[in-house]
Amino acid sequence: MHSIHDNTEIFITCPNRCQIYLQKELEDLGYEPLDSSRSGITIKGSWNDCIRLNFHLRTAGKVLYKVSTFRAVNKDEFYAGSKAIAWEEFLDIDKEITVQSVTNNEEIDNTMFTNLLTKDAINDRFRSKGMERLISSKEGKEAVVFVFWSSGEASIYLDTSGETIAKHGYRKISFVAPLSEALAASIIYSTQWKHDQHFINPMCGAGTLAIEAALMATNRANGLMRSNYSFMHFKGYDEKFYAQVREEAKRNALRSIKGKIIATDFSNEAIYNAKRNAQTAGVDHLIEFELCNFEDTPIPEGQGVVVLNPPYGLRVGEETELIALYKGIGDFFKQKCKGKYGYIFTGNMDLAKKIGLKAKRRIEFLNATIECRNLEYELYDGTRAVEKVKPELES
Ligand SMILES: C[S@@+](CC[C@H](N)C(=O)[O-])C[C@H]1O[C@@H](n2cnc3c(N)ncnc32)[C@H](O)[C@@H]1O
Repeated sequence: MHSIHDNTEIFITCPNRCQIYLQKELEDLGYEPLDSSRSGITIKGSWNDCIRLNFHLRTAGKVLYKVSTFRAVNKDEFYAGSKAIAWEEFLDIDKEITVQSVTNNEEIDNTMFTNLLTKDAINDRFRSKGMERLISSKEGKEAVVFVFWSSGEASIYLDTSGETIAKHGYRKISFVAPLSEALAASIIYSTQWKHDQHFINPMCGAGTLAIEAALMATNRANGLMRSNYSFMHFKGYDEKFYAQVREEAKRNALRSIKGKIIATDFSNEAIYNAKRNAQTAGVDHLIEFELCNFEDTPIPEGQGVVVLNPPYGLRVGEETELIALYKGIGDFFKQKCKGKYGYIFTGNMDLAKKIGLKAKRRIEFLNATIECRNLEYELYDGTRAVEKVKPELES
């Protein structure tokens, strides 16, 4: 009989191409990855490990605790495999249950069908034990079961996160094209930034990158901004352990930082929203906000990074404006950011060519379905000039 106190496979999802950043986070927390795929990483652990992971991971989406894997080429095999699981060990009849799935089989590829079949199997199992039906919900606010059924094999997980942990709980108001918080954290991990250096973020929009940097520099766990997870709604959940994780995270959060974090934007609304979000995250006192054009962003002396996520959508009539903007970023880097590392996160490689500097690294990302690159520029100080390229050679 399986219970949530057993060690099992835990699959942690992350944005596509962000596994190396998730892997680093897992290793820092003391976990050894067993396997890695495009959509996430598998480790071995217990329910309490899931609690820690949900609380601390910045680059993850869901923490999934595996309860069964079985062959299922048709609906009868799937139903039998699902009903064989000791659901009464995990599920509480007082809690709402939501089933979500990814379904991709020759005969069945309808997620709604899989969700219903799973609920039927669970309810029939409860009835066969003389127990009441469960309360079903689509909200995902309490107990969430996740089914991955593909190519004739089904894996059933307890989704310990519920609402995705890719949202870090502070972005109550957004602005034009905000980055997902998990993606923003991954972008920062891909840079050379150290927590005691400056983090400068012109074109900050809703402030996601600057706020993530402040949370990292102060070691503030995302879990401190959230009060509900699916792991709280399964049988046997160790409330005391969760309280301990929370207390420990509070104790380990720093009050001040060494470097400066500067966020600027030329939009009043963006700065207003970014400040509000930083307040919600409890880091507004650590970020210097300024309303200005990106090229007027104050650049302090000392080591650090300048990270920009400029607009890259090309609507009709926008092209000429954006070409000038990207060229201007190149000039800004050359003239004002010497001695720093510069980064431009963009989904438009044609515009990237207009920057006119040679990128040292082009770090691959996928933002939803858009191919993106975080372009790294080493902006030499003093005698060693920043390497220029003919615009048509840069890609
Ligand atoms: C893609 S959004 C940034 C989104 C941000 N990374 C986030 O997660 O919310 C681009 C931002 O650049 C700002 N922007 C565009 N041109 C600018 C300029 N010349 N100077 C300053 N900000 C500018 C826009 O106001 C917008 O907030």
